[in-house]
Amino acid sequence: MAQTKVKTDGQSDMRGKVVEALSTSLNSHVEIIIKAPGRINLIGEHTDYNDGFVLPAAVAQSIYFAIGKSGYATRCSLISLDFNERFDFDLTDMSPLSAASWQNYVMGVAAELIKDNRELSGFNLVFSGDVPQGSGMSSSAALECGTCYGLNELFGLGLSRIEMAKLSQMAEHHYAGVQCGIMDQFASLMGKQDYALLLDCRSLEYKYFPVGLKEHRLLLLNSNVAHSLADSEYNIRRQQCQQGVKVLQTYFDNITALRDVSMAQLEVVKEKLPIAVAKRCKYVIEENERVQRLAQALSESDLHVVGEILKEAHQAMRYEYEITCPEIDFMADYANSQPNVLGARMMGGGFGGCLLVLLEKGAEHELTADLDKVYHEKFGKNITPIDIELSEGVELL
Ligand code: GLA
Repeated sequence: MAQTKVKTDGQSDMRGKVVEALSTSLNSHVEIIIKAPGRINLIGEHTDYNDGFVLPAAVAQSIYFAIGKSGYATRCSLISLDFNERFDFDLTDMSPLSAASWQNYVMGVAAELIKDNRELSGFNLVFSGDVPQGSGMSSSAALECGTCYGLNELFGLGLSRIEMAKLSQMAEHHYAGVQCGIMDQFASLMGKQDYALLLDCRSLEYKYFPVGLKEHRLLLLNSNVAHSLADSEYNIRRQQCQQGVKVLQTYFDNITALRDVSMAQLEVVKEKLPIAVAKRCKYVIEENERVQRLAQALSESDLHVVGEILKEAHQAMRYEYEITCPEIDFMADYANSQPNVLGARMMGGGFGGCLLVLLEKGAEHELTADLDKVYHEKFGKNITPIDIELSEGVELL
């Protein structure tokens, strides 16, 4: 089993390193230090961009930022300590680099702020984090939201957290090319220690939801499959949902998103939709219902029902939304056949990343070791367990 279990002990170290690098490598006075968390999602995948419901939470794994003014009107320098890369750019001459470059998330936020008529000047920024990348824990949202929060503080822009979430989401659309929903940015900025967020992605009304697990625990198991298809397939799923809505609108009034559609309505138009589109619509309608059911079960502390819903959600992502992959299906099948596992499902955008497991306290080690062994035999790679602690949203330190 890979021994690189993510822990938060190293975080004071990361904070020290970003502060040090800003002053020594960029010769900049440290004005702001920020911590921006990744997130988990208990339930509600691909519902956010369908105006639906989600139940995410910010976690301890975070990105640390040290930020200061550069002293120039428009010149900026960035350092990613984890990539060991420096990048210089000018606020008057920004454009996205090739897909999946870390620079896009920072520049994207600066570009959106400028588009929103916010007054920036040159800045220097260094960051380092322990949110595993490509794991479905939203390291990109942490990078965007930490940057946005930092620039908001540095330049006194007066944005609210929700405005920052929307702006960071737009940075992802325009600079990373992923037509994501609002869930990740909202969770990173609005998270609260020990709580999940039940969010209505249409109205952005939310409520903090206590996650009392009693004799059970949540565990993440990283498949270590980097989701290379994720961005392109993500945008395709979004288009398919819109395609479904267009047809549904010709039959029914008051439909602006799949959130408004019932299974009975879908039944009526099903035959008129391409098979894949009908499956995507069915998935979204049922996933929204799963969010409501899971929230209800959690409020009644009925963890066995929570587990059953997680299992159901995995099968739906596998067969209806078709966003899983052989490795993560293997992990889910294995975990879901163990007596001390209440339920497990893939978490996040799809095509790899982590399995979210609800299991009996004390069973974590055995499950991880046993699954790692069979996983390695089959796929020649290891899984990495990741501890979960529900944490505060972006913080100024
Ligand atoms: C990614 C996106 C989110 C959401 C999830 C799937 O994390 O950024 O907006 O759609 O996938 O639930």
